[in-house]
Amino acid sequence: MPTVLRIQGGRPLKGTIEISGAKNSALPLMVASLLTDKPLTLTNVPDLADIRTITQLLEMLGVTAQVEGNIRTLNAAHITSTTAPYDLVKTMRASVLVLGPLVARYGLAKVSLPGGCALGARAVDVHLEGLQAMGATCELEEGYIIARAPKGLHGAHFTMRVVSVGATENLMMAASIAKGQTVLRNVAREPEIIDLANCLNAMGANVQGAGTDTITIEGVPLLNGATHKVIPDRLETGSYAIAALITEGDLTLTNTSLEYLPMVRETLEKAGAIFEDHKDGFRIYRNGPIHGVDVMTEPYPGFATDLQAPFMALMGICEGASMITETIFENRFMHVPELSRMGANIQVHGASAMIRGVKHLSGAPVMATDIRASIGLVLAGLAAHGDTSISRLYHLDRGYENLEAKLQACGAVVERCKIDG
Ligand code: UD1
Repeated sequence: MPTVLRIQGGRPLKGTIEISGAKNSALPLMVASLLTDKPLTLTNVPDLADIRTITQLLEMLGVTAQVEGNIRTLNAAHITSTTAPYDLVKTMRASVLVLGPLVARYGLAKVSLPGGCALGARAVDVHLEGLQAMGATCELEEGYIIARAPKGLHGAHFTMRVVSVGATENLMMAASIAKGQTVLRNVAREPEIIDLANCLNAMGANVQGAGTDTITIEGVPLLNGATHKVIPDRLETGSYAIAALITEGDLTLTNTSLEYLPMVRETLEKAGAIFEDHKDGFRIYRNGPIHGVDVMTEPYPGFATDLQAPFMALMGICEGASMITETIFENRFMHVPELSRMGANIQVHGASAMIRGVKHLSGAPVMATDIRASIGLVLAGLAAHGDTSISRLYHLDRGYENLEAKLQACGAVVERCKIDG
């Protein structure tokens, strides 16, 4: 029997939510274990489906993984395979991150092409061009990318045509054990890139400039072990900040920081949010209506594409109207028909959506299509009059740790239930 998330909407969320470690940091950090034959210990790792998938992939390669609560210790002393199979890569595109570290350390990597996914083509061409600049040959055979560098990788100057988070991480890891200096230009500047650079440096790498658009890496033969704490999840933080606003609630989010959300803070303030800084996080609430604000998604420090769906849910109940333009991914408006089923007034024109605020949303059965669309529907359901049931929960389980418990502790009526059919 399929499981749905059932939400009785219309209750303001009040209380404290502890934010988990960042999934999008933890994934590349776990992959960085491939760059050393010593143990890498990561703390503040969220317990999520994607984390279990990357663990499974690393174990297939011969990495041993010890799990103790939110601590993961990974040891790649005895790698037994350099192949990332289709079954795992197709469920999580971030699996492609093993390509750079494997070819850099072992001279060979065979990684299934991720293929099309719900968010459009999502190519890996920039990852491959960067590795080729570092001396690897990349071929496509039977759906697999085969990267070879029998004599190891060498440093290179490489400018990305497209700002890609994953390619920046892949190349930064590969370059950390390549021969000589690598300079990567037009790279992603996300906080998760800085977190990875900090961890690589703690492991003995020499990575400079993370957080700017140029990263310089002096290669070393092999990295050491280290212990590193994963940064807070800024996307979970932003999602719960929006939850406070959409339900007319008052939340304190802890174990996090507004430092990672400059544009989101600015946008939510324009919409009517009041933020109060706390030592270990912040409080967010509102004293009046939500105003319509126009937003365009952009690479960091711009407005995160991953918060576009939750923000659209919020704009669904704004006073006035809002234009949201998606510039990072094609097909990232799949939540629109679902929000419309809940009474939202949204017209899509190409990469832009025009949202005219309605007084209230109404509960409805809806279907999740990706991680962030799912949380957008959860937030809409929390604010809506009546009951909402959300199906295809596996998307939500990829990105939000203890979602129901966190929401229930703040007064939400939300539960998972099995349904017929
Ligand atoms: C990461 C995040 C994801 C976020 C996205 C953009 C992780 C695990 N996932 O995904 O949550 O939504 O950044 O902030 O960190 N592109 C190419 N060629 C490439 C690589 C990318 O054309 O070789 C394009 C993509 O199709 C997309 C854009 O570049 O349109 C950005 O993609 P990218 O930054 O690579 O996203 P991910 O790293 O997959």
